[in-house]
Amino acid sequence: MKAVVCTKYGPPGVLQIRDVQKPTPKENEVCVRVRATAATVSDCVIRGFNVPAAFWLPMALVIGVGKPRKPILGMVFAGEVDSVGKAVTSFRMSEKVFGFDRFDFGTYAEFKCLSEDKVLARMPANLGFEEAAAIPYGGLLTLAFIGKAHIQTGWKVLVYGASGSVGTAAVQIAKSLGATVTGVCGSSNVELVESLGADKVIDYTKNAHLDSADAYDFVFDAVGKRKGSMIKSAIAQSHKGRYVSVDGGSPKVTREDLLLLKGLAEAGKLRPVIDRRYPLEQIAEAHRYVESGHKKGNVIITVG
Ligand SMILES: NC(=O)c1ccc[n+]([C@@H]2O[C@H](COP(=O)([O-])OP(=O)(O)OC[C@H]3O[C@@H](n4cnc5c(N)ncnc54)[C@H](OP(=O)(O)O)[C@@H]3O)[C@@H](O)[C@H]2O)c1
Repeated sequence: MKAVVCTKYGPPGVLQIRDVQKPTPKENEVCVRVRATAATVSDCVIRGFNVPAAFWLPMALVIGVGKPRKPILGMVFAGEVDSVGKAVTSFRMSEKVFGFDRFDFGTYAEFKCLSEDKVLARMPANLGFEEAAAIPYGGLLTLAFIGKAHIQTGWKVLVYGASGSVGTAAVQIAKSLGATVTGVCGSSNVELVESLGADKVIDYTKNAHLDSADAYDFVFDAVGKRKGSMIKSAIAQSHKGRYVSVDGGSPKVTREDLLLLKGLAEAGKLRPVIDRRYPLEQIAEAHRYVESGHKKGNVIITVG
């Protein structure tokens, strides 16, 4: 099968298209014919081994020294069930499925096997493969980080970085929970964030010192430490205990949350946002674009 192999840690050019052996599902595994995947910030971090020096050793021990032990990157997938192991009971051939594999990767390929009890579910009935592949990354990270906040109807919620993969999901999920949502983004994304249902949008290029006196019941920082911001620390200080950052720990992504996202998508409460699409052969271009740090929602990779 055709796959993208990460030959060593480095710039996007280390990603190479190769012919590799098609995987065979184990007894409890589903083999998915991948139709669409997503180029994510996490994929770029792994490919570039882009972590602070203090994390080099633990990261190398976990994912590999010099190059990833699991050379086919990619965490997100949408596709059809191609075959199933003997013990599989939840999925049948040809069913449309989507999901997320945070630790084994392998979705930058025509086929991907994973256990039927992993983060895998039938696709939202109203979405195509590319749209379905734009749901798991931002949606699962959002649910993992805001879950404990127990957002209530009528809460004032601030989503900082409302136009990225995580931010576009967070705005919509907070709205679906009945919150009044303020989104923060750059000038070119104001209309997008409004269209997602934000009640108020603040352009950070015009309002650099977001008024730290503004009171929110919950602040979700979907930008994270990597990109830095002028307003983040002020807001974090004034909202102690009510501020969560997308970089604040290791998110637990679950199948239950994937099913929740499927339901939200089918109810029209979660619209996938796709910025660009690239064929698998142009994965390096896709990574370069993701690394610009200003994608709108998701970058989708079409496969097969
Ligand atoms: N904890 C974990 O294990 C984990 C896992 C995965 C991801 N993450 C974090 O999640 C973050 C978000 O991922 P994503 O896929 O949503 O990223 P993304 O799609 O690239 O979104 C980036 C967002 O940041 C905004 N932004 C960029 N520079 C900014 C600045 N200087 N000030 C304010 N806003 C700025 C962009 O808005 P404009 O374009 O409008 O500027 C955009 O809304 C990642 O950067 C990563 O740090 C954490």
